Amino acid sequence: MTAPSTNASSATTHPQKKDGIWILGISGYYHDSAACIIQDGHIIVAAQEERFSRKKHDARFPFHAITCCLQEANITLSDVETIAFYEKPFLKFERLLETYLSFAPKGLLSFWQAMPVWLKEKLFLKNRLTKELGKFGPLQGHGPLPPLSFSEHHESHAASAFYPSPYERAAILCMDGVGEWATTSVWTGNNHSITPLWEIPFPHSLGLLYSAFTYYTGFKVNSGEYKVMGLAPYGQPKYTKHIKDHLIDIKPDGTFRLNMEYFNFCTGLTMTNHKFDKLFGGPPRTPESTLTQREMDLARSVQEVTEEIMLQIGETIHRETGMEYLCMAGGVALNCVGNGRLLREGPFKGIWIQPAAGDAGGAVGAALQAYHHMLGHPRTCHAPHDSMRGSYLGPAFSNEAIEQFLGTVDASYTRYADDDFFETVAKALAEGKIVGWFQGRMEFGPRALGGRSILGDPRNPTMQSVMNLKIKHRESFRPFAPAVLRERVAEYFELDTDSPYMLLVAPVVKHRRIPQAPHSENLWGIELLNQARSDIPAVTHLDYSARVQTVHEDTNPRYYRLLQTFEKHTGCAVLVNTSFNVRGEPIVCSPEDAYRCFMRTEMDLLVLENCVLIKSDQKAWEEETDWKQEFTLD
Ligand SMILES: [Fe+2]
Repeated sequence: MTAPSTNASSATTHPQKKDGIWILGISGYYHDSAACIIQDGHIIVAAQEERFSRKKHDARFPFHAITCCLQEANITLSDVETIAFYEKPFLKFERLLETYLSFAPKGLLSFWQAMPVWLKEKLFLKNRLTKELGKFGPLQGHGPLPPLSFSEHHESHAASAFYPSPYERAAILCMDGVGEWATTSVWTGNNHSITPLWEIPFPHSLGLLYSAFTYYTGFKVNSGEYKVMGLAPYGQPKYTKHIKDHLIDIKPDGTFRLNMEYFNFCTGLTMTNHKFDKLFGGPPRTPESTLTQREMDLARSVQEVTEEIMLQIGETIHRETGMEYLCMAGGVALNCVGNGRLLREGPFKGIWIQPAAGDAGGAVGAALQAYHHMLGHPRTCHAPHDSMRGSYLGPAFSNEAIEQFLGTVDASYTRYADDDFFETVAKALAEGKIVGWFQGRMEFGPRALGGRSILGDPRNPTMQSVMNLKIKHRESFRPFAPAVLRERVAEYFELDTDSPYMLLVAPVVKHRRIPQAPHSENLWGIELLNQARSDIPAVTHLDYSARVQTVHEDTNPRYYRLLQTFEKHTGCAVLVNTSFNVRGEPIVCSPEDAYRCFMRTEMDLLVLENCVLIKSDQKAWEEETDWKQEFTLD
């Protein structure tokens, strides 16, 4: 890996520059555009563009996210030392060009479709970024744009995994679809530097193998991968051997090569080809058609292969680096089932995973790499705490701003003082009400963590299907995640470590499980879902696993207090937590987004900071068009 390049010629300091070294990090133009601002190496604010534009996985220039970041940090671009972009467009272009050439004349159609976009927009990214950034402050008579710097894609992932982690030294594993060339990269992190060790280049990619099965099972690539993971426990690993015999050659050290005869992503517009269809006995599932046991078996099989590789590579990295701790980022690091196994069965004492493990997190990584590597500043490690602030890095709204908004829509609400507030909401949850919970700063990364969440009672056996079908309007097989008081986690799950970002899956403890009735053996696929599997059935998956979020008093005191009050009333220190949105919609950002989502669905209560709205008290909700058409299904 090379050092980030910098355009030093345009470096000019604004006369009234704010104290501190401010860096703006940007990711974008592929998927999940995002921006962040760091001050003296501390992450101040970070947000994804989709939350503002209301277009899921929005890949456009993150204009709104940058605007939000500048506002939250209370600076203008003229205060910024450097603007760090998360990948190097020329290297990416080189990879595209070489790939097309090595497969030519195959892939000509895809080549001709991609080239105009590349030539017009991506290859001249620096010019384009300069033009877009010109819309912000410094150009209004306050001097030139701060210099731009560029990190490689995996360098940004690795930086986002290590620098905010609670470790002084650690091994780093990045796995995703692809950036420029690398699809898997291994690094070591030491105080304020990261050093590359080795990488696996495109087209050999675990992320793309998983995406190929996402496509083949009828889900959306770069979005539906976690559905495949959720579907896996319903299936049998019938195709694992097939995958290993034909699609991927896994070496004893966990490194791998794909057999490109079965894939289409280098040359075509799809992930898989006819040979792949033949191997698995038919064409890809049509999106939104009925799921069958075959898709479940395929999901289970590719999940098993993924876990095997993660475990083997984990062993290799541990042996090669001698490091006790591991940091992870890249889209594959969102595979929390694999992460959970790596933690339980792997050689590391601890694992820290960047909560924005996908490309949005690249904005944070690029900014931190510019600060530590390019500018040479030291890093302060705050072990045992990480420096992501619970990932509550987005905008917040005061009670006053919320009340002002509620007045504009003529909403009926009560603003409670804190003590009454927590009692009211906890009691509603205990009565089986479903609560839209909006408070504090918005989460950065794909998970809702109690800032923009929908909450429910996990003891309620119908909660999972009600939330899925009436609130989220999504497939009924999808599991929900438990949020649990950190101090109580081991009483519910076979886990006694921090998992604040919902990136570890762990089994429900044995004494809470409910043995399955003999007749359940005759049930099939999704029918199995309706069988309660523990005393917290709404968050217990088919295999007794749960995607655990530990809730911490220091990072989210109000969420923590709600759980405490709920426990006081019910004896249960767990809540169901799912993201505050409907299917296909980005997680809500503003009070307006939350109110709209509340009114469109069958949520019972909406909490906006201390203001509580009861659905039955609101006037009828009418829209001229069918709002479900607004969001492309994910
Ligand atoms: Fe990536």
